[in-house]
Amino acid sequence: MLTQRLILTGDELDDAPLIEQAAAIIRAGGLVAFPTETVYGLGADALNAEAVRRIYLAKERPAWDPLIVHVDTPEAIYRYTRNQPPVTERLILAFTPGPLTLVLPKREAISDVVTAGRDTVAIRIPSHPVARALIRSSGTPIAAPSANKFGRPSPTNADHVLHDLNGAIEAVLDAGQTPMGVESTVVDLTTQPPTLLRPGGVSKEALESVLGEVRLLSAPLESGEALPAPGLSLRHYAPHARLLLCAPTPEAFYGATKDALSRYAFVGAMRPDGWRTPTEPRLRVFEWGAWGDWEQLANRLFLGLRTLEKQQTHAIVCPLPPEEGLARALHDRLTRAAQD
Ligand code: TXA
Ligand code: MG
Repeated sequence: MLTQRLILTGDELDDAPLIEQAAAIIRAGGLVAFPTETVYGLGADALNAEAVRRIYLAKERPAWDPLIVHVDTPEAIYRYTRNQPPVTERLILAFTPGPLTLVLPKREAISDVVTAGRDTVAIRIPSHPVARALIRSSGTPIAAPSANKFGRPSPTNADHVLHDLNGAIEAVLDAGQTPMGVESTVVDLTTQPPTLLRPGGVSKEALESVLGEVRLLSAPLESGEALPAPGLSLRHYAPHARLLLCAPTPEAFYGATKDALSRYAFVGAMRPDGWRTPTEPRLRVFEWGAWGDWEQLANRLFLGLRTLEKQQTHAIVCPLPPEEGLARALHDRLTRAAQD
């Protein structure tokens, strides 16, 4: 199969003919990768079980790991879910459209293929104009996991998508780099208090300002364990190079890089602005951004990991952000990517 790259530029993000072309593929049961404000998604018609099955094949995603359904309106959230607790409406008002995914009991229209057999469905309203235009034009909810091969870093531009999925999907809508760069926050509203299943673009602190209390899924689950957050298997988001995390100080980072150079032939470094690295031709440096500017660092995290891996590094050294605010999502992704 030839994967078409449908390029949307600058002010023409709502280029109607290209969006319509992609929507026609979705309606016909095909696969289209598309940008959201977080990362690129790999979309199929959520009401077409056969089409959704193809997502798992293209991604090589295990059948036990359910997908997120993307819709365009709060009404659609209510249409495909049931028994919504009262906080649902307040969360929708506060955070959507945007990077918040709600886990709620599903209605019948959503097939078991989407939810991997569960009776809950993860659903969100993305804010990216291309994602919204695609959902509207398709006239159907769109099931979409991140558009990477299973276990790999999520794609934040169309090159990443094609690197993993070229030839396996019909098209990618290319609107450049995604603005946030880490996936949505996933919160399970079927527990009391709600459970934060995956930290992401909406911080735990922001959720607490609406929900009062939020339960944390603390220890990462064993690889392949199916409950209660199936996609949170231990090793995930990982580049092919080995990821070495260090304490977030310039001194620890310098020492960890030097140490890695003594053990690996080619080493990558995710370097914060103004931090030092040893002078050494075997070292490849990715200029990550200003330490503490979590938005910028989130935006460039997966880009950096994929860039350094392409430069044939055997190990990548990276300082570990703290577990607070948006940095919590970075901490989570990096810890998982560093697992054996
Ligand atoms: O930002 C995002 O959320 C991106 C964009 C494309 O929307 N999507 C994304 O999808 O990251 P994915 O499949 O890579 O991650 C979805 C996570 C997985 O960990 C999955 O296991 C979990 O949500 N999930 C999906 N349905 C669930 C359910 N019914 N109950 C619990 N967790 C669920
Ligand atoms: Mg994913």
